[in-house]
Amino acid sequence: FLPKKKKQRDSLINLKIQKENPRVVNEIDIEDLRCSNVCYCRCWRSKTFPVCDRSHIKHNELTGDNVGPLILKKKTL
Ligand code: FES
Repeated sequence: FLPKKKKQRDSLINLKIQKENPRVVNEIDIEDLRCSNVCYCRCWRSKTFPVCDRSHIKHNELTGDNVGPLILKKKTL
């Protein structure tokens, strides 16, 4: 019997996103960024992947991990 935290640590990174693909690659045209800030998921738990939905908070609590999103900020001129 392994504690829940230990099981989480040993699991796959990608649990369910595009599992039919041999490699998940997302390409976003920088010109399409309409918001001043966009957060992209790096924990592979977001229900809106590749956009962060803050699922990393629960993942970090369960595992003791420290992952967070990649935040792209548009410079204001
Ligand atoms: Fe994955 Fe935020 S939901 S980094």
